[in-house]
Amino acid sequence: MKKLLIKNGTVVTASDIQNADVYIEGEKVHTIGKNLQMAADQTIDAKGCYLFPGGIDAHTHMDLPFMGTSSSDDFESGTLAGLHGGTTTIIDFAFQSHGKSLAEGLNVWHEKAAGKAVGDYAFHVAVTDFNENSRKEIQALVEEKGVSSFKTFMAYKGAIMVDDRQILGLMNEVKKFGGIVTTHAENGDLVDMLIQENRAKGNTAPKYHALSRPPIVEAEATGRVMDLAFEGGHPLYIVHMTCEDAINRVRQAMMRNQRVHVETCIQYLLLDDSVYLEENFGGAKYVMSPPIRKKKDQAALWSAINQNLVEVVATDHCPFCMDQKKAGINDFSKIPNGGPVIEHRMELLFSEGVVKNRISINKFVEVTSTAPAKIFGMFPKKGTIAVGGDADIVIFDPNAEHKISATTHHMKCDFSMFEGWEVKGKCRTTILRGVVAVDQGKALVGKGFGKYISRSKFGQPLNT
Ligand code: URP
Ligand code: ZN
Ligand code: ZN
Repeated sequence: MKKLLIKNGTVVTASDIQNADVYIEGEKVHTIGKNLQMAADQTIDAKGCYLFPGGIDAHTHMDLPFMGTSSSDDFESGTLAGLHGGTTTIIDFAFQSHGKSLAEGLNVWHEKAAGKAVGDYAFHVAVTDFNENSRKEIQALVEEKGVSSFKTFMAYKGAIMVDDRQILGLMNEVKKFGGIVTTHAENGDLVDMLIQENRAKGNTAPKYHALSRPPIVEAEATGRVMDLAFEGGHPLYIVHMTCEDAINRVRQAMMRNQRVHVETCIQYLLLDDSVYLEENFGGAKYVMSPPIRKKKDQAALWSAINQNLVEVVATDHCPFCMDQKKAGINDFSKIPNGGPVIEHRMELLFSEGVVKNRISINKFVEVTSTAPAKIFGMFPKKGTIAVGGDADIVIFDPNAEHKISATTHHMKCDFSMFEGWEVKGKCRTTILRGVVAVDQGKALVGKGFGKYISRSKFGQPLNT
């Protein structure tokens, strides 16, 4: 069994910060303490660096067939890019195909990932056709397949959108077996109508994507899905929340003592809608749903994080290259939705959040790792640095400065939404289950190193 000793680092968890050494045996953290003297096969000096729990990105789309094309990162390139940026585990979405079972969808995604993923991975199942047959599959998915979260889309009408009746039916079944429903909250009918209106007026540019999905679209769906969950007493997780109006709906729900878990993504905290004015079709890089909002929405999101109202910062990593985006050069509604983000979530959040005093360093760990691990049944195996847990550790140099660029990133995408951004703090070394996976920009593990993580029920511990 390989023995690894990390000396002189500052161990940061969601609740603590301490100068300590970490001794790892095999895949697990064995001892955390001062001046450890164990004999090891490898010793790393982490002086001046933080040791963070490996990042968990609860929202990614590798190899996703979507809007007539497929997201450009597969499980190999996408998880490797994640490791470069300190993300050791992803939760991707296995989509049910219309007319097919949930299990078939899950199998397809297992085939995409197995033997390819470099980082660890788990799956939410995206339910696009909830019916009597899919209802009967829920128990086995939760109890036998390690899938305890189910995604519904209230948008993408005519493709993957489901109606309220299906959402409630799914919630009823999922709750019986201890799972949780997650939702993309946008009013698909309203979006569809606004898209048709803009197209009829000859409005074709990328900015009309955002103008067809104003905040009310998101706020209404957020309120509605929370009402559905409240009615049945169901737990609920809302993905990629972007705007103040939606956040205020959550505030109202909390006033009636409802428990709702909310995720945002790093791009919504840092970018504003002026990006859609980038020339030469550049606005297409930022076409995603919901769209990038206004500066006041960014401020609301940062506050919501500090108020424990937004608990998770993910990415919704769903990259498409410029050639793929060009499918919508004459019609914004045909631009594939999504962007490349996984690699820079942790570094950007540290630089813009911790360094700029918008969030504490413990909050940084909480939203990037601990909270998604707890909500989605992976804690304490994942999501913290604790004796007995997986040795997923990021050695992070808070003083290293660097610039983000598509020319140097590892995501399979020919642009970055953060091109030229100056970042303070860098993932120096990423350790996954006791193995140095990436060191100073060099990958030391490859294809197939990642393992499937079979998850516990919603909010339940996963044995280490
Ligand atoms: O624009 C986005 N978000 N693309 C990926 C699919 C989704 O809605 O999560
Ligand atoms: Zn979505
Ligand atoms: Zn998504």
